Amino acid sequence: MSRPAAAAAAAWSLLFLLAFVATTGLPSRPPTGKEAWNYVEVRDGAHMFWWLYYADSQDLPLVMWLQGGPGGSGSGFGNFAEIGPLDGDLKPRKTSWVQAASVLFVDNPVGTGFSYTDRPDGYATDVATVASDMLVLLQHFFTERAEFQSVPFYIFSESYGGKMAAAISLELTKAIAQGMVKCNFAGVALGDSWISPLDSVMTWGPYLYTTSLLDDYGLKDVSSAAEAVKQAVEQQQFQKATELWSVVETVVEQNTNGVNFYNILTQEPDERRASVAEEDFISLQTRRHIRPLHGQSLSELMNGPIRKKLGIIPKNVTWGGQAEDVFSNMAGDFMRPVVDMVDQLLTAGVNVTVYNGQLDLIVDTMGQELWVKRLKWEGLPGFNGLRWTPLDDPTSPGVTGAFCKTYKNFAFYWILRAGHMIPSDQGPMALQMLRMITQQV
Ligand SMILES: *[C@@H]1O[C@H](CO)[C@@H](O)[C@H](O)[C@H]1NC(C)=O
Ligand SMILES: *[C@@H]1O[C@H](CO)[C@@H](O)[C@H](O)[C@H]1NC(C)=O
Repeated sequence: MSRPAAAAAAAWSLLFLLAFVATTGLPSRPPTGKEAWNYVEVRDGAHMFWWLYYADSQDLPLVMWLQGGPGGSGSGFGNFAEIGPLDGDLKPRKTSWVQAASVLFVDNPVGTGFSYTDRPDGYATDVATVASDMLVLLQHFFTERAEFQSVPFYIFSESYGGKMAAAISLELTKAIAQGMVKCNFAGVALGDSWISPLDSVMTWGPYLYTTSLLDDYGLKDVSSAAEAVKQAVEQQQFQKATELWSVVETVVEQNTNGVNFYNILTQEPDERRASVAEEDFISLQTRRHIRPLHGQSLSELMNGPIRKKLGIIPKNVTWGGQAEDVFSNMAGDFMRPVVDMVDQLLTAGVNVTVYNGQLDLIVDTMGQELWVKRLKWEGLPGFNGLRWTPLDDPTSPGVTGAFCKTYKNFAFYWILRAGHMIPSDQGPMALQMLRMITQQV
């Protein structure tokens, strides 16, 4: 961080502290601790933004959080809507992950959040580029912040972030072995992750049917639309598969009166639904899946007070301004599975956790179970042979908040009463899970 940026950070901390004292009367714990942020030019004209919150104590691990989309911003949505020290109203978050880890938000792929590219060809078009870009960033980060080289480092992710996390973890494991990156990589956690897109799409019908959200006609319509996606994937026509995925969503929408893809107990707001007028699938899908991560108040916060605080955002860069381009550039890669990467990670001995929200539709738990059962990892029979263990909801002892199962280096957490965004739906349970995965309890 530059010196003016550091000074600005200090001034902001003070401001938050004063605001905190003013609202609560006593500063039991300052809501913001030490922070740092910067850009790394990961390729010519491709600038990636990171933002680090130091943990409250030095013995705690380092967690990198990757948002989905692709095009969703960890520094914005993950930070202020899910796990950061402050919520969208800049009030301290009770379930902030900074209590249990130093948290590193990286706006990736390039073009996401405050990350940006100066060139139209600067966007990533596949997860291989996403991973190699991130490796450049991590190399810089662990060199610049050498104090983190020995700290256990975990990658946590959500949605498409999980697909990127799998690819990044694999490259990181190789880079560490080759001495290219110095860090203590301790594991990866895949939250409601787009690991096997087809398994998700194929289970939408049965999941919605068993939860009273489709009738027999609806089930038939959704299943036949999903079947078309399956054919495209089998023929390796991935761009077409992405277009057809969008069609299945429209069929789901029509037959469920607009069930919310992120939580089946709620309904999609009108602005996310397919309009009668013809609309190309990219703008429809960004409206459905990218804009919800860029709500008006979050955009105003990021492009107002936050960019002012950060002090390093170029004048012509808007938070979220290139998100749609990020998504459209990745459209040909979107429906490709990365199950084989998870297998490689497990075989390499990396600790892998899958966690999934019970009420998530877009990445429903049924679909996750399917690809997990197809893993070639030699520990799978041992994992399958175990029963799960119930976990109490930390805020309601005696009430089950999750189930979990761990065998060797693989763990699965079934998070109850949570949709796609687990930390925003079940904050205390998510924090408890973080502590369990990172060996703090
Ligand atoms: C911002 O402005 C600079 C200088 O005019 C230009 O080179 C760059 O491409 C612009 N970047 C973006 C993201 O628009
Ligand atoms: C990986 O998981 C195993 C099994 O749960 C655990 O014993 C080990 O400590 C974990 N390693 C790290 C680095 O967290």
